[in-house]
Amino acid sequence: MNDVVRLAQSFDEWRAAARELIARGVAPASVQWQSLLGDGDLFAAMAEATDTSAPPLRLPRQLVELLESAACFNVADRWAFLYQVLWRWQQGQHDVISPADPDGARLHGMAKAVRREEHDMHAYVRFRERPQEQGAPRFVAWFEPTHDVLPQVARHFARRMGNISWMIATPTATMMWDGETLHTGPALMRGPADIDDAGEALWLTYYRSIFNPARLNADLLRSHIPSRFWKNLPEGAIVPAMVSGAANGERRTGQTATVGQRSGATMIPISPERAQPVRELSTTLDQCRRCELWQSATQAVPGVGPAQAAIMLVGEQPGDQEDLAGLPFVGPAGAVLQRAMQEAGIARDSIYLTNAVKHFKWEPRGKRRLHKTPAQREIAACHDWLEQELASVQPQVVVALGSTALKSILQDGAATMTPLLGTPIQHDGRWVVTVYHPSYVLRAPDEAMQRQAYRVIVEGLRQALSLIHHQA
Ligand code: URA
Repeated sequence: MNDVVRLAQSFDEWRAAARELIARGVAPASVQWQSLLGDGDLFAAMAEATDTSAPPLRLPRQLVELLESAACFNVADRWAFLYQVLWRWQQGQHDVISPADPDGARLHGMAKAVRREEHDMHAYVRFRERPQEQGAPRFVAWFEPTHDVLPQVARHFARRMGNISWMIATPTATMMWDGETLHTGPALMRGPADIDDAGEALWLTYYRSIFNPARLNADLLRSHIPSRFWKNLPEGAIVPAMVSGAANGERRTGQTATVGQRSGATMIPISPERAQPVRELSTTLDQCRRCELWQSATQAVPGVGPAQAAIMLVGEQPGDQEDLAGLPFVGPAGAVLQRAMQEAGIARDSIYLTNAVKHFKWEPRGKRRLHKTPAQREIAACHDWLEQELASVQPQVVVALGSTALKSILQDGAATMTPLLGTPIQHDGRWVVTVYHPSYVLRAPDEAMQRQAYRVIVEGLRQALSLIHHQA
């Protein structure tokens, strides 16, 4: 029979539940993890889900830190995954925190993405000062974090901004600092435009939403909304009204439903450009955020080779092994390429080897990370890095390994590979030779096609060599 654990989205709750499950020897396969956000009374559910009676586990600090960071990674199976890691560790499988282990690699990747998101949010949250208004925070910012980093980012700003009041609104939650205390509430705004529109009614809605009469007691009230703050609310009456509602058995006032029904509000469509502050172009590849792929990749994989080379080979994007190693073409496709280069008489260290897209795009399939072809917008977003490599390496011949590379090199999202196979073309003052991608040799439907694809690659590489010899 399955153990069902009911959870809200919090690391502390997961930890308490996980301790208890470990103490009872419940294997990951017997546990169903459920998130209760948006499903009933969050506060009541938290109380139910938290069993603090189980003994604490003795875990190395590194593991605790990784688990805590990865818990903020926004993915549906996060709690189940964290429990699997914890379980394996408790079973003595300590390589579970090694990046060479598939679970370990995922754990490190998640923690890294969360750290980046925190860093981005520190850097890119833009507070806007609001007209002084009773009950309203002085500064308000809108941000759309990819992962659940709002609480730690809010603590960061609380430390930095002293007794100045502010609020950070996101699509799923709101945090406010009144100069003394941090308050957490549900989503309040629908986009940055709401900051300008926010008036008394919105602040009122907010105070209702962070107030849960089901748990009303004087201490809670004081800790939730310090009286020195709420006594200045536009409608002082709101608090007594909520208090009496609670005394009469009213379960809940507000939270998300109230916010959703805010009168007079129209839906404001938010384009990503408006929702996020304009981000400056990254100065290093490692910091690149020009598309979303960095979030699930371990690292950006730059090109390798001599500072200047006559031939540049351009692949599609790093694969699973390249993503972990930080080097291009070190996996199975790299082995095919290596063999083809040898046969064509090209020494690997004489050429510059890179990819059109520098982050690994993948989707989970069981425990594996399956390659996913980059979209045109991702190819275009990454093109500038390739352009920089072309400018500094100055190759005479560029070999496009497959159609993603060709699209990027020609800066033409409609470019197709087949008409160009075996036919070098001139582009931007250099030769472009087009061949199949080496991974096609591994996955072509039958042996004849695999052999043919391989021959096309070898011939293309030979052509590249003869083109540089021609020019020399
Ligand atoms: N496939 C590519 O296109 N590039 C790599 O680096 C590895 C596999």
